[in-house]
Amino acid sequence: MSKFIVHPIDKLEGEIVVGGAKNGVLPLMASVLLTAEPCVIHDVPDLKDVNVMIEILKVIGAKIEWEGSSLHIEVPKILKNEAPYEYVSKMRASFDVMGPLLARTGVARVPMPGGCSIGERPIDLHIKGFKALGATIEFGHGFVEARAEKLVGASVYLDFPSFGATKNIMMAATMAEGVTMIENAAKEPEIVDLANFLNQIGAKISGAGTDTIKITGVKSFGGAIHRAIPDRIEAGTYLIMAAMNKSNVLVKNVVTSHLKAVISKLIECGVQVIPEGDNVRVISDGKLKAVDITTLPHPGFPTDLQAQFMSLLTVAEGSSVIMETVFENRFMHVSEFNRMGANIKIEGHSALIQGGAKLQGTEVKATDLRAGAALVLAALVADGETSVHDIYHIDRGYNNLESKLQTLGVKIERIQD
Ligand code: UD1
Repeated sequence: MSKFIVHPIDKLEGEIVVGGAKNGVLPLMASVLLTAEPCVIHDVPDLKDVNVMIEILKVIGAKIEWEGSSLHIEVPKILKNEAPYEYVSKMRASFDVMGPLLARTGVARVPMPGGCSIGERPIDLHIKGFKALGATIEFGHGFVEARAEKLVGASVYLDFPSFGATKNIMMAATMAEGVTMIENAAKEPEIVDLANFLNQIGAKISGAGTDTIKITGVKSFGGAIHRAIPDRIEAGTYLIMAAMNKSNVLVKNVVTSHLKAVISKLIECGVQVIPEGDNVRVISDGKLKAVDITTLPHPGFPTDLQAQFMSLLTVAEGSSVIMETVFENRFMHVSEFNRMGANIKIEGHSALIQGGAKLQGTEVKATDLRAGAALVLAALVADGETSVHDIYHIDRGYNNLESKLQTLGVKIERIQD
């Protein structure tokens, strides 16, 4: 397994460019299963997760080609109504194929995604939605199978505004007879982007980005050319990194309205965050005030930036509390930070952080994708060299992180095992 060797840096200066949103692109790719017409998605990051989705779609019947950072996808015929276990087990977002497969062919068979390092992550809300639309669901041999002669529009209330369930139900409902209402829907920008794409290929969706999404079923779809939205989690990671150091950094390709909760916390910490068109400049002297964080569904503070912000809070002046309300087991990185000299205690769903730590470089392990990025951020302000192991996690969500950081003067190298 590969690792990063990261050296501390005195000052971060320069520009860093954010790519297309991983969490937006994966459902966009899955949704192409709805149509037989060719589609093009621009600004697709060349990430492990994207390549896993490519393999799944190919098994199902898609023809896919890269052209630079654009993906050409065409699914003239569904060859298999099933996503293979070997891929689904690697990436939870593969469950996104369930809704579109069910809508287009009336049958979808997908392995149960299983738990993962950040929590149980059930699929009951996805299932509740499919059932409400008239599908029958069977579980067996580790698979979930949905079948429907025809789907009929219905009202679905989500007990929690689940991102995954909202995407899947929205895609399934696009071809259902009549009107579907998803209430207490997730409001993430990637949901809005998916709805925009679906409308481009011929769906009738309104209300995406609000609590209530209305989908009026249509019979068939055309093709579309679409540009993915910028990755708000990648952008947020760079904003936090710049804040932690002495820096003058321009983060390019950012939609600031997608990052309101994070930017407002950075400002509270004492950092200058200056929007410049599609870019954001961060000016920091690296001296930060501690703030409290509670992760929440969008537009609240994203759980996907919790670990990176914890990295910042370990060195900020004062004590702080992070409450993780989205995933029950998302503090795996705490013990790695503490090995670097941080002072963090976990109490239930909260992490209590005594700031002002003098972090020390050592051997640490990425426990998941965002935790891995957070350790790289900590390494930049630590004393001495840090080796971050298991960086295959980081490669799932950051395209060529080392090259991007090198443009800011960071000394980071990838050691292939
Ligand atoms: C989560 C994030 C999303 C992010 C994505 C990618 C939230 C709310 N969601 O989405 O912003 O883009 O990771 O990293 O921050 N749940 C159920 N039953 C279900 C589905 C979910 O109980 O059927 C629960 C989960 O266990 C979890 C919460 O709902 O506690 C959030 O789940 P969900 O939003 O679906 O997670 P992801 O789709 O992974």
